[in-house]
Amino acid sequence: MPMLGVNIDHVATIRQARRAIEPDPVWAATLAELGGADGITLHLREDRRHIQDRDLRIMKETVQVKLNLEMAAEDAMTKIALEVLPGQVTLVPEKREELTTEGGLDVVKNYDRVARCVEQLLNANIEVSLFIDADEKQIRAADKLQVHAVELHTGRYADAKTPDEQLKELNAIASAGEVALDHGLLLHMGHGLTYRNVVPIAEINGVSELNIGHSIISRAVMVGMERAVREMKQLIAG
Ligand code: PXP
Repeated sequence: MPMLGVNIDHVATIRQARRAIEPDPVWAATLAELGGADGITLHLREDRRHIQDRDLRIMKETVQVKLNLEMAAEDAMTKIALEVLPGQVTLVPEKREELTTEGGLDVVKNYDRVARCVEQLLNANIEVSLFIDADEKQIRAADKLQVHAVELHTGRYADAKTPDEQLKELNAIASAGEVALDHGLLLHMGHGLTYRNVVPIAEINGVSELNIGHSIISRAVMVGMERAVREMKQLIAG
C-alpha cells in the first residue's frame, strides 16, 4: 500500500486570505497525522502565497512522520532546505502566475540548475524526489542525478474528459512507473488525485507514495461544516 502524504498548503491559503493566524497549517498537520497521514507535504513558494517560512520551521519540530518540502530548484530555496533539513525535498517547477504546479519539472532542459540543487541536498542527507511528467527522457535524467525518487504528475489523468482518455493516461503513467522502477527509483505520484480517481493510481505496481492536497482539504471543509455551525449556534444560544 502506498504511503499517503497530505499536502496542507490550502489551509495556509485560507489563513493568508485574511493575513490572520487561523487556520494554522501546523495544527492541520498534527490532525492529519492523527488521521493516519504517513507524511506531511508543504510547498514553500517563492511568492509565499500560502506556506510561510515559519510554518516550515515549526513543522520541522512538530511533524513526526515524513516532512516533504516541495520547492523550486533555486539557490534561495536550497539554502532554506539546508537550514531546516526536512526528511524529503520534492523539486517542482514554479511559475509566478500559475494557480498550482502545472506541469512536471523539465529535468532535461534544466539539468545543470537541478543538478546543483540536488547535489547539495543529497550531501545534507535529504531524500530527493523530482516531480516530473510520465516521460522516459525525464526519468533517465532523474536517474543520472542519483535522486531517490520521482513523483509522476497525475494531472493529465485527473483532468481526462472521457474514460478512454483517462485509461490512456493511466497506462502512460503505469508504463513510465515501470521504467522508473527498472532504474531503481522510488515511485511517487501526485496532483489532482481525488476520492473518485485515486484507486487505479494507488494500484499501479510499485507506487510507494501518493501526495494529495486539494481533495482532502476540500472534504475536510465539508465534513467539518455542520459541526462548526452547530458549535457557533450553541454559543450564540448562550
Ligand atoms: N504533488 C506535487 C508535486 C504538487 O505540487 C502538488 C500540488 O501542490 C500535489 C502533489 C498535490 O496536488 P493536489 O493538491 O491536486 O492534490
